[in-house]
Amino acid sequence: MTTETPAPLAVTYAADAQELQEELGRTGGGPVASVGVLVFSGDDGPRLADGTPDPVPVGAVGAGVSVAVDGALFERRGFTAKVGRTLVALGTDGGPAVVFIGCGDARKADFETLRRAGAGFVRAAGRSGTALVVLPESFTGESGAGVDSRAGQAVAEGALLGSYRFVGHKSENDEGQIDRLIVLGAGLDGTGARRGIERGIRISRAVSLARDLVNEPPSSMTPRRLAEVAEEELGSSGEVTFEVWDEQRIADEHLGGLLGVARGSAEPPRLIRASYEPSDPLEVDGHVPHVVLVGKGITFDSGGLSLKTAGGMMTMKTDMSGAAAVIGALSVCGDLGIRIRVTALTPVTENMPGGRATKPGDVLTIRNGKTIEVLNTDAEGRLVLADGLSLAAELEPDAIIDLATLTGACVVALGNAVAGLFGNDDDFSARVTAASQRAGEGTWPLPLPDEYRKHIDSDIADMKNIGKTGEAGAISAALLLARFVNDVPWVHLDIAGPARSDENDGVLTKGGTGFGVRTLIELLDGYSPSSV
Ligand code: BES
Ligand code: MN
Ligand code: ZN
Repeated sequence: MTTETPAPLAVTYAADAQELQEELGRTGGGPVASVGVLVFSGDDGPRLADGTPDPVPVGAVGAGVSVAVDGALFERRGFTAKVGRTLVALGTDGGPAVVFIGCGDARKADFETLRRAGAGFVRAAGRSGTALVVLPESFTGESGAGVDSRAGQAVAEGALLGSYRFVGHKSENDEGQIDRLIVLGAGLDGTGARRGIERGIRISRAVSLARDLVNEPPSSMTPRRLAEVAEEELGSSGEVTFEVWDEQRIADEHLGGLLGVARGSAEPPRLIRASYEPSDPLEVDGHVPHVVLVGKGITFDSGGLSLKTAGGMMTMKTDMSGAAAVIGALSVCGDLGIRIRVTALTPVTENMPGGRATKPGDVLTIRNGKTIEVLNTDAEGRLVLADGLSLAAELEPDAIIDLATLTGACVVALGNAVAGLFGNDDDFSARVTAASQRAGEGTWPLPLPDEYRKHIDSDIADMKNIGKTGEAGAISAALLLARFVNDVPWVHLDIAGPARSDENDGVLTKGGTGFGVRTLIELLDGYSPSSV
């Protein structure tokens, strides 16, 4: 990454006015320039979330800023407290601005509301300085152990993900943002809230890494470069064993799908394999659970000889988002104290139409000996994943999950906010679904019907790499993948839609979204084979 990316926003916690004063003194960043308060919509107009102090302390004990709701102002400015919307009331006499942060209907408030509140706030809080956001207890209406921790995590995640910017190639960075966010607890369990914020910071770092990898231009983020960066990010941890296979090794290991896709490119392919061994492992029935993550790593998808259109190619540096998500998730397993074994496997290559490229009609032999007739070289993801999943199945793990920007058909079916979820094991699928819900990442189940298996029958090989034109394209791709996982519980997430965003919206920022990182972390964190 050529230009230096600014340090992410610092997020800290203060339990009360006293701690806030200490916090302001401890770290640079200046006095509080804006104060955010959470506001619910209601029949009688917007109202402050219960427990919000008025005035809000902003510095020396005793100094405070009034955040009283001004119904006439809201009315005039058309502010109805919709989730993530904000209204800025400028401060008087150089005092801090007050940012009213819309949180919608109090009865529907959840942790996703808090993420969107955090993201909305950092966008509205100005271009520099320190911002303070008030987090009142029982915001979500939930109670019990861990609620305040999850609330702290959600606010930190929202603020950090919403303020993410990829500025690596701009000669000038003109998009200033606040330097520091202090979360002021109102009645919260401080230990829990602090722990949650710390967790949110780590998770956001993993998501930002995935976004950076995706946003880098395709001729900088080649397979070789991706392997190097992955090594920088993962290789230094004592709990991770890191390995990269070069072209020769890939051939020796019979990864015919990966080699076949790489043939048309001047850049050699790579296979990245990283294994996380927890220092404090969780034992279930005498063994430590093991989950393998497989990510599609096409650093640029031109379509190969079945060339894409100019428009279709424009976003195809995004085609390594699965690999980026897997690398991002593995990068924080140690920091988060994940207690199971995790292996990341990512086949990485360009898909290009060079003179030696695989031709429509060619047959490739995958790692596990099965053969695939390639009738469209643009259906390359399933070819490299067939090798990746074969390797994963050989490890005989408890479960395999793959993430891939696999089909345009999935985008047609589910749009940009939701990933298609396929699986061969109801328990594991339910686990991944629950993880994605906790993470605030949308997934929706799609079927693997036996009747459609014949869609990928080939005249001359075990299968072909395309289904029927215009019919169930996301499903025929997933049905092909299913043939490479043996009987290991497996989920496939088709992330072709949500891997990328066209706008800065909620926790998403333009370009790569890092979709999947948070679901993977939730999955690994909650994993043990005995409990669903
Ligand atoms: N990488 C694409 C899928 C994709 C399309 C991702 C749009 C994100 C946005 C994949 O390799 C591809 O080209 N799939 C083809 C398959 C077809 C040829 C059977 C597709 O979806 O058109
Ligand atoms: Mn393609
Ligand atoms: Zn592709």
